[in-house]
Amino acid sequence: MLLLAAMVLAAGAAAGAAALAVNIMERKQEARNPFYRVVELTDDTVDPAIWGKNFPLQYDDYKRTVDQVRTKYGGSEAIPREPTANDPRTVTAQSRLEEDPRLKTFWAGYAFATDFREERGHAYVLEDQLFTERQHVTKQPGACLHCHASVYVTYKKQGEGDLIKGFEKVNAMPYAEARKLVEHPVACIDCHDSQTMQLRVTRPGFLEGIRALKASQGVQNYDVNKQATRQEMRTYVCGQCHVEYYFKGPEKRLTYPWANGIKIENILTYYAENGHKDWTHAETGAPVLKAQHPEFEMYNQGIHARSGVACADCHMPYKREGALKISDHHVRSPLLNVNRACQTCHNWTEAELTQRVTTIQDRTFELRNRAMDAMIALIGDMKAARGAGKTDADLKTAMELQRRAQFMVDFVEAENSMGFHAPEEAARILGIAMDLARQGQLAVRQPDYTPNLFPSTTPSVKPTEREVTPAPAGGTGSGTQGGGGTNH
Ligand code: HEC
Ligand code: HEC
Ligand code: HEC
Ligand code: HEC
Ligand code: HEC
Repeated sequence: MLLLAAMVLAAGAAAGAAALAVNIMERKQEARNPFYRVVELTDDTVDPAIWGKNFPLQYDDYKRTVDQVRTKYGGSEAIPREPTANDPRTVTAQSRLEEDPRLKTFWAGYAFATDFREERGHAYVLEDQLFTERQHVTKQPGACLHCHASVYVTYKKQGEGDLIKGFEKVNAMPYAEARKLVEHPVACIDCHDSQTMQLRVTRPGFLEGIRALKASQGVQNYDVNKQATRQEMRTYVCGQCHVEYYFKGPEKRLTYPWANGIKIENILTYYAENGHKDWTHAETGAPVLKAQHPEFEMYNQGIHARSGVACADCHMPYKREGALKISDHHVRSPLLNVNRACQTCHNWTEAELTQRVTTIQDRTFELRNRAMDAMIALIGDMKAARGAGKTDADLKTAMELQRRAQFMVDFVEAENSMGFHAPEEAARILGIAMDLARQGQLAVRQPDYTPNLFPSTTPSVKPTEREVTPAPAGGTGSGTQGGGGTNH
């Protein structure tokens, strides 16, 4: 009897434990995958409102990307304006050209010198592109749409099922024609698989760019959607658009210049090899390059990337809605959300965290301003030399120096975190840029001037020697990293 009772009890306990385990699993599942199928989604459902029926919480946050709130260097300010025939918007973001008129000289002869604004939320990607003055001073190609509209289904349709074919076709169209093929700004389908909701990359520019980058690192035929880890995808979905790009050839193929790597020197070498220029500088005649939003490239040089922290960790942090843990689809400046964006990892107060960010940004801004002054001085000298009859041959070295310095300053200027994503890298780039610009001024004065370009022509230590120098034994190093130790 006793044995039987014990067996019954044990079985009961086991069943109870199993039931509890199932219940916990169900709860966990629910927390992880809050999915009540209201509508059937397909690989052709573009409209985010339809996705929103299944995922109302994410959709609600997604819609909030219309908000405009300014931080010291980011966010954006809602500036009311008189609508015109060309531009019916009643609100835009502040003009960066008005904030820093040096930019007009910096970009003289290029569309950016006519209109360049602080960027704002994802809700505006399509209308801001359609109505920028830059559409009126230049004929823009359909390739622009790649990052400003939900183009995945459009590409598939245009390519009769072949994404890349459709991409090629739309790239080459005039903007106005391509614009008729799209309806929505960045949408759910651009980052998610409609059946599994898993993250995926839909943009050919990134599919091809990351394949070229991996090939340069010895990994052939990389397929990001098959080979990337989940944590990598939490960065790659943003890297689809927040990157430096150019249009290759008369077919305007949108290309990310990563075949040599994604550090600025790799990118400059890439453009040197293919001889690409974005425009001819109106005041100096130099064939120059425009850097654009290299967030992905810069972030990759920083401590957070090195530590495996993804874009989504800071820009789409987890939040609780009842029992559910969801990703905040109100993508915005983390400084408007320090509590969830940073304090999950850093045991510092909100004020302290904000202070650390603005300290980095103030320092970067100071260097950026000095570098911009150096650029304006170089451009001024070159313009004066042209006025005095100097030829392309006389200014060959100065033009080369301007091209490099210009791209380097722009790389930090166009990067939207004002140094935060990779503070030392931003400072290094600006330091070199200032040197190149001042060398350019020397070259204007002495046509036989021999520039010190990168890789540095007169290194005091050969790079290979530097790399094999053994690190100091544990604890006896300079201690800049270990000091204090109260963080995190
Ligand atoms: C460790 C946290 C962190 C990570 C990781 C991170 N960012 Fe940021 N990002 C920031 C902070 C802080 C700012 C500065 C915001 C400000 O000045 O208001 C910023 C600024 C930006 C901005 C400008 C925002 C604005 O409001 O003007 C963009 C765009 C951006 N990041 C994109 C990215 C992308 C894309 C990635 C990944 C490739 C990334 N970030 C990774 C913290 C992060
Ligand atoms: C590789 C992706 C990509 C392509 C291609 C692209 N953009 Fe953008 N664009 C972005 C990102 C990311 C931002 C937000 C960050 C920023 O403004 O620096 C942006 C911001 C903008 C803005 C708002 C800020 C400003 O500059 O005034 C305009 C307007 C714009 N783009 C127009 C265009 C036009 C016109 C083209 C085609 C010549 C184009 N974009 C092609 C990614 C892209
Ligand atoms: C399909 C292209 C695309 C993708 C994918 C994309 N962005 Fe953007 N993002 C843009 C463009 C374009 C803008 C500028 C819109 C404007 O100014 O009208 C922008 C603006 C932003 C801003 C500025 C918001 C503000 O209020 O000032 C942040 C922050 C940002 N993106 C972060 C991210 C992060 C993080 C990811 C990945 C989770 C991401 N983006 C994915 C194209 C994209
Ligand atoms: C710019 C890329 C991007 C866009 C656009 C986007 N998401 Fe997401 N979404 C993410 C990321 C990143 C995650 C986190 C996924 C992970 O960690 O595996 C996520 C997670 C999710 C999840 C899983 C649960 C959660 O919240 O973590 C759902 C559901 C979801 N998104 C729905 C949507 C819906 C609905 C839309 C359109 C209204 C949308 N997403 C638009 C990037 C995006
Ligand atoms: C997912 C975790 C995670 C998130 C989220 C995160 N960080 Fe970090 N952060 C780290 C790690 C890891 C390091 C590297 C620190 C180390 O190894 O000592 C770091 C380093 C830093 C540093 C440099 C510290 C130093 O000593 O060099 C600053 C500043 C910083 N984070 C600020 C922020 C801010 C601001 C945010 C929010 C916008 C943020 N972090 C979000 C994990 C995170």
